[in-house]
Amino acid sequence: MIKEEVLARIAELRRQRKAVILAHNYQIGEVQDIADYTGDSLGLSQEAARSRAEVIVFCGVHFMAETAAILSPQKTVLLPDPHAGCPMADTISAQELREWKARYPGRKVVSYVNTTAEVKAESDICCTSSNAVKVVNSLPDEEILFVPDKNLAAYVARQTKKRIIAWDGCCYVHNQILAADVLAKKRIHPQAEVWVHPECRPEVIDLADRVLSTGHMVKAAQETMAQEVLVGTEAGIIYRLRKENARTAFFPVRDMAFCVNMKKITLIKVWTALEEMKFRVEVPTSVSQRARGAIEKMIQI
Ligand code: 13P
Ligand code: SF4
Repeated sequence: MIKEEVLARIAELRRQRKAVILAHNYQIGEVQDIADYTGDSLGLSQEAARSRAEVIVFCGVHFMAETAAILSPQKTVLLPDPHAGCPMADTISAQELREWKARYPGRKVVSYVNTTAEVKAESDICCTSSNAVKVVNSLPDEEILFVPDKNLAAYVARQTKKRIIAWDGCCYVHNQILAADVLAKKRIHPQAEVWVHPECRPEVIDLADRVLSTGHMVKAAQETMAQEVLVGTEAGIIYRLRKENARTAFFPVRDMAFCVNMKKITLIKVWTALEEMKFRVEVPTSVSQRARGAIEKMIQI
């Protein structure tokens, strides 16, 4: 089937089903192009919470669709590919978190939204890359447990006076971006600014001019006076940065920094999801009620 036909069918089904299509900034370009809203993890969860649609087609990974299902239990949430997971979220289970908490009685748990609903249900509050420092500072405690990203935890620890005890997880996509990649690209683009995501290694963050979530990168791109920017995050965001900002040249710090799970969503799968109303993401009420508390505390902040 030619692309125009697929687009026409998606448009028709979106209307019939009263659906909204949400896409993360790492989605492939043609999926971003059909989305009603494209954004970072925080923006997507806020959008899912306020949307009036009956169906949410979530073009992202499983934990994001779960968050939408938790915030909007009356809506049908569809993930076009059921295997689009997040390996970092899978580094910690609810049981592992319970055992870890038992070793640190009384400590509060901040969980990055890149976690399963069960792990969120065991947490005091969630955070995203755009509000992690604020969330940690909002707690009165001196010592905090942080799951699952050790790189984000290290970044937050440097921005606060708190002692952060971190789970030993990380995002393999951001972890493969090395200081040597930044230095190599800087040799080609010596005047370029360097923007990196806080999921990057500390030594990469040390070389950056700015440390930004994907949503903050999108905003910074609209405002920057820089002629060239090297972007240290999943390379899919370059599509949006270039599309929206012709004045600045954006280059990935590492060309092959792709998240295979984010790239599993295609136009054909979005169409099939709407046509067959699959794959539904549901969270049992017993889990979702507790997880919702942690997510809503974050949204309030
Ligand atoms: P943000 O878009 O919230 O910065 O998150 C990045 C990410 O790795 C999502 O999986
Ligand atoms: Fe998970 Fe990293 Fe992929 Fe985001 S980019 S979904 S954190 S593996």
